[in-house]
Amino acid sequence: MTQAPDTTPLVKIRDIRIDGRSDETWLPIIKGVNLTLQRGQVLGLIGESGAGKSTLGLAAMGYTRDGVRISGGSVEFDGIDLLTASAAVKRDLLGKRIAYVAQSAAASFNPAHRLIDQHVEAPVQHGIAGRKDSAEDGIALYRKLRLPNPEEIGFRYPHQVSGGQLQRAMTAMAMSCRPDLIIFDEPTTALDVTTQIEVLSAIRDIVAQYNTAAIYITHDLAVVAQMADRIKVLLRGEEVETADSVEKLTFASAEIAVPNPARAPFLSGFAYLLRCRKYLGEFAKVLGGCGEEEFVICTAWTT
Ligand SMILES: Nc1ncnc2c1ncn2[C@@H]1O[C@H](COP(=O)(O)OP(=O)(O)OP(=O)(O)O)[C@@H](O)[C@H]1O
Ligand SMILES: [Mg+2]
Repeated sequence: MTQAPDTTPLVKIRDIRIDGRSDETWLPIIKGVNLTLQRGQVLGLIGESGAGKSTLGLAAMGYTRDGVRISGGSVEFDGIDLLTASAAVKRDLLGKRIAYVAQSAAASFNPAHRLIDQHVEAPVQHGIAGRKDSAEDGIALYRKLRLPNPEEIGFRYPHQVSGGQLQRAMTAMAMSCRPDLIIFDEPTTALDVTTQIEVLSAIRDIVAQYNTAAIYITHDLAVVAQMADRIKVLLRGEEVETADSVEKLTFASAEIAVPNPARAPFLSGFAYLLRCRKYLGEFAKVLGGCGEEEFVICTAWTT
């Protein structure tokens, strides 16, 4: 008799509400979002700047930044309630079973230690591998992530490599313990397009090889199309929609009549489309007296 597959989600977030302190009051940042992630699945989280992507990504690890609090809902990782788990339980999970690749890689490294020494810290500390083996594994990961001179680059300090190289070293470090879940917060923003494509495919290969689940945060629809099994779109702390491919996102695939983007240079194409979709009336008002000729038919790809 074959055993039934384990269908317990790896991550289960229910009706999560998160507030941020603003002067004396708390304002909502995330307004009741659900998220379910199975083992090995990659969820793309997209939305304009300030939508709450990083806040939600951190909450998936049971973590909030200073000045931010979780005011309702639940977060479970592999059946463990992260909002009530002890500091010791969380410490054991973070780095070992859950890893995070921060939006700002520089802030996540200790400037006083060489890259490879920081790389081996978690596997050694969690008893997963010895120094030598995890350093060798680090070099292999550096090579997969297309870092130049993978054997040598680990001997550098964080300030001796470029921003894009540091992002890749951080990605390698996140994978050092082969975690069950990695939160990637815009890990390729500092890379040129060619390197970005190579690094994305390396990340995709590594997460598939180790059945790692990932939450992949980005602004970029093309990136999310390459990376994600499922996509969730956030707007101002709320879920706008969720779909299993970019093509199925109605805001992206439907041809939407929107005011001519050239008339709204203050918004990026992506933010612009999201807003137009939801707040078309509001925007037409902001733009003021848009004549028929100022409306164009466009899709997310053409802006
Ligand atoms: N420490 C904090 N205290 C109070 N409010 C915060 C704090 N950090 C973020 N916020 C607010 O939460 C909202 C969402 O921030 P978040 O960083 O999650 O956005 P984001 O979608 O990741 O944006 P970006 O694409 O620019 O990284 C913003 O309006 C921000 O002002
Ligand atoms: Mg962010």
